Amino acid sequence: MTVNTPAEATLAAAVGPEALVLQGFEAGGHRGPFSDPDPQDFGLFALLRLVSSLLLIAAVDRFRWALRRAGIAAALTAGAGAARLGTAFMLCPEAATSPAHRAAIESDAPTDVTRAFTGRRTRGIVNRFMREHHKAAPRLLWAGHAHVRSRAISAAQLMEQFAAEMSAPRLT
Ligand SMILES: Cc1cc2nc3c(=O)[nH]c(=O)nc-3n(C[C@H](O)[C@H](O)[C@H](O)COP(=O)(O)O)c2cc1C
Repeated sequence: MTVNTPAEATLAAAVGPEALVLQGFEAGGHRGPFSDPDPQDFGLFALLRLVSSLLLIAAVDRFRWALRRAGIAAALTAGAGAARLGTAFMLCPEAATSPAHRAAIESDAPTDVTRAFTGRRTRGIVNRFMREHHKAAPRLLWAGHAHVRSRAISAAQLMEQFAAEMSAPRLT
C-alpha cells in the first residue's frame, strides 16, 4: 500500500499489507494520499524514520519499504527493503515521454506541485504555461525533484546501474 504520511502508514498497517510504499513529497507525478485536502507533506527520509518507528512499535517486522531512487543505497541503509522509481525511467527509450518533456527532465528546471489538469496534487517541471495557467490549465511535465539525474539509457541499463550503486554505496 502507498502511504504519504505516518498517519496513513498506521492505518495501512492495520489491514496487513505485504508492503508499504513510502511516497515523499519530492516524488514526481501524482501521489496516492488517502485524503487530498490540505495534506501534510513529508520528505522521504523523514517519512522513513517516522514510519519505521511506528512499525517497530507495532512489531511488524516483515514489511518492506519501497522508496525512490536519488540514493537507493542510502534508502536501503536507512531501513528500506526495496525502492520504487518513476522519473528515472522517463528518459529510457522505452518510455513514451515527449521530446519537450525529455528536454525539461534533462534541464535543471525547478519542479512544483499543482492541482491543474486532474484536480489532484501533482509534481511537475515548472514552465511558462504552468506559470500563466496555474489554476485552470493542465501541466504535463510530470517529474520528481531530482529529475536532472535521469539518464537516457535503456530500462535494463538503468536497472544494472542501480544494482551497481547498491552493491557499492558511496557515502561521501
Ligand atoms: C509520470 C509520473 C506519474 C505518476 N503517477 C502516479 C500515480 O498516478 N499515482 C501514484 O501513487 N504515484 C504516481 N507517481 C509517483 C511514483 O509512484 C513514485 O512515487 C515517484 O515516481 C517516485 O519519485 P521519482 O519520480 O522522483 O522517482 C508518478 C510518477 C511519475 C514520474
